Amino acid sequence: MSTPNVLILGAPGAGKGTQSSRIVDEFGVEHVTTGDALRSNKGMDISHLDTEYDTPGAYMDAGELVPDEVVNEIVKTALAEADGYVLDGYPRNASQAEYLDEITDLDVVLYLDVSKDVLVDRLTGRRVCSDCGANYHVDFEPPEEAGVCDDCGGELIQREDDTEETVRERIRVYEDNTEPIIERYDESGELVRIDGEGSPDEVWEAVRDAVESAA
Ligand code: AP5
Ligand code: MG
Repeated sequence: MSTPNVLILGAPGAGKGTQSSRIVDEFGVEHVTTGDALRSNKGMDISHLDTEYDTPGAYMDAGELVPDEVVNEIVKTALAEADGYVLDGYPRNASQAEYLDEITDLDVVLYLDVSKDVLVDRLTGRRVCSDCGANYHVDFEPPEEAGVCDDCGGELIQREDDTEETVRERIRVYEDNTEPIIERYDESGELVRIDGEGSPDEVWEAVRDAVESAA
């Protein structure tokens, strides 16, 4: 089987990061995630673009989308370097979807379907390893020892955009900008809709089956 090009779509907190890690382990692809790439470059000076804020971090902490020029460049470079990938967090609006069409071919498009009320609980309870980036949840996927990463012993922290107020804004931005492009993938028959409300293991079974049948 060749290494597949996977797109994983879903609302903030749908489980894209959680399932992407498993896709990486199982299929040997790169995890290309605009959220993590931008978090590593939160302070980058983008004032030359003459946009509302001068850094990616200012958009992220407000729950808004970082300008397309910044994000498109990150994705183009990362996909060019990857031999098989799972793309997580992109595209998030119509112009990003058009750009993606131009630069790559997808083997499978997954959509993790999770209702809005579940998303807020998932995000406000999420904890992330400050060293290796592994994801936990205080109730749904707790670490063995509170505040400590099972994988590497690193400190678990809360993401700055996981406050309830910013989470609600991220969901609103998602509904306005990203839901319409998901409908478009659905109409073109490319979308594999997966119930994202089961346990991480149950969701994984459906994700693995969908990637296996496409690869
Ligand atoms: P990004 O980092 O992409 O955040 P997001 O899309 O809001 O998604 P999350 O990472 O919050 O959720 P996830 O689906 O990965 O869920 P996870 O697996 O962690 O983007 C952040 C910001 O960057 C944006 O707001 C924007 O400013 C900017 N940005 C990024 N990309 C951009 C782009 N293309 N254009 C412009 N701006 C961009 O799971 C969540 C929690 O639930 C965890 O605690 C997990 O343990 C738990 N969980 C997961 N699965 C389950 C399950 N099945 N059952 C119970 N709990 C579960
Ligand atoms: Mg994520």
